[in-house]
Amino acid sequence: MRNVGIVGIGSYVPENVVTNLDLEQFVDTKDEWIVSRTGIKQRHIAPKDMPVSELCYQAGLRALEDARIAPEDVDLIIVATITPDYAFPATACLVADRLGAKKAAAFDLEAGCTGFIYAVATGSQFIASGTYKTVLVIGGETLSKILNWKDRSTCVLFGDGGGAAVLQQVEEGFGFLSFELGSDGSGGSLLSQPAGGSKCPASSETVEKNLHTLQMEGKEVFKFAVRIMGDVSLKVLEKAGLIKEDIDLLIPHQANIRIVDAAVKRLKISPDKVVINLDKYGNMSAASIPVALDEAFQAGLISEGDIIVMVGFGTGLTWGACVLKWTKVGIKND
Ligand code: ACO
Repeated sequence: MRNVGIVGIGSYVPENVVTNLDLEQFVDTKDEWIVSRTGIKQRHIAPKDMPVSELCYQAGLRALEDARIAPEDVDLIIVATITPDYAFPATACLVADRLGAKKAAAFDLEAGCTGFIYAVATGSQFIASGTYKTVLVIGGETLSKILNWKDRSTCVLFGDGGGAAVLQQVEEGFGFLSFELGSDGSGGSLLSQPAGGSKCPASSETVEKNLHTLQMEGKEVFKFAVRIMGDVSLKVLEKAGLIKEDIDLLIPHQANIRIVDAAVKRLKISPDKVVINLDKYGNMSAASIPVALDEAFQAGLISEGDIIVMVGFGTGLTWGACVLKWTKVGIKND
């Protein structure tokens, strides 16, 4: 099996910033409540006419430019999202078309906030097996489009954005050292968009009852997240033959600072090794981890050979983590 790593990264968030004070104008909430319970201070929200494919396209373009790879050389595009442009066709096909990735296979993958980890794990297999040379993985969301903006327990938490990574073969000993993925469908109702699928097709009744918006049992999701983030990080490290002291950088899913703090406490790692950007963006679901990775790299926080753990949880329920030994040098084996 070939070693697979990330040879290019990029991200994009819409310009429009909505602060907690802005939310106070139309929801019964307070900046102080949101900051103390979640750590979120603001979020970026896409305009009405901007679909998720636009965020994915912009992020994908930046990642390809960073890797100095032409769109025509991409073999596969995977878009992880729970807010696709349409139920079908797949957003990945639309992004491939916008990019001009003419030979790329393309499909969407749905694993909620764990989507980017699932997509990277999936894309890596195609390269590890020698099937493909270049895979573009994108996590993109426009959660703002499916929020009930009158429900203060959910609408304050989320934001829009996209993050992308170009996967290629890398030198032995570098790249992804291990993955750990999991799911538990018995918790599916804790976080869902109940209507619009085959179980509850769209009707005037589903619209009236707000069933096309995100519904969440926040407390239950919180308990699950606190437990799983630490557990899965330790498991994925063990699979890679490493210990928590080996971590140079932890990139957790950015849902709530209290969830991240609990995981960090469990892992007993120094807070300065943990990437946090949820204060600026809120929870961008599948986009949170790749945007944080891109920002950490741009900020000079990542060096060749660093051990990076990325870990997430989300609707499904799903969870996932990976250990990445950083290099951006791909092996060109034409
Ligand atoms: N502003 C003010 N008050 C609020 C707000 C708000 N925005 N939201 C809730 N409250 C009130 C509640 O009504 C409640 O009032 P009450 O006691 O009078 O009934 C009180 O605050 C406490 O509410 P709790 O739900 O107990 O607050 P909690 O401390 O649990 O925080 C939160 C809620 C932030 C949602 C937390 O449970 C959480 O972060 N859960 C995890 C969510 C998550 O990670 N989701 C990501 C899923 S990933 C994916 O796949 C999309």
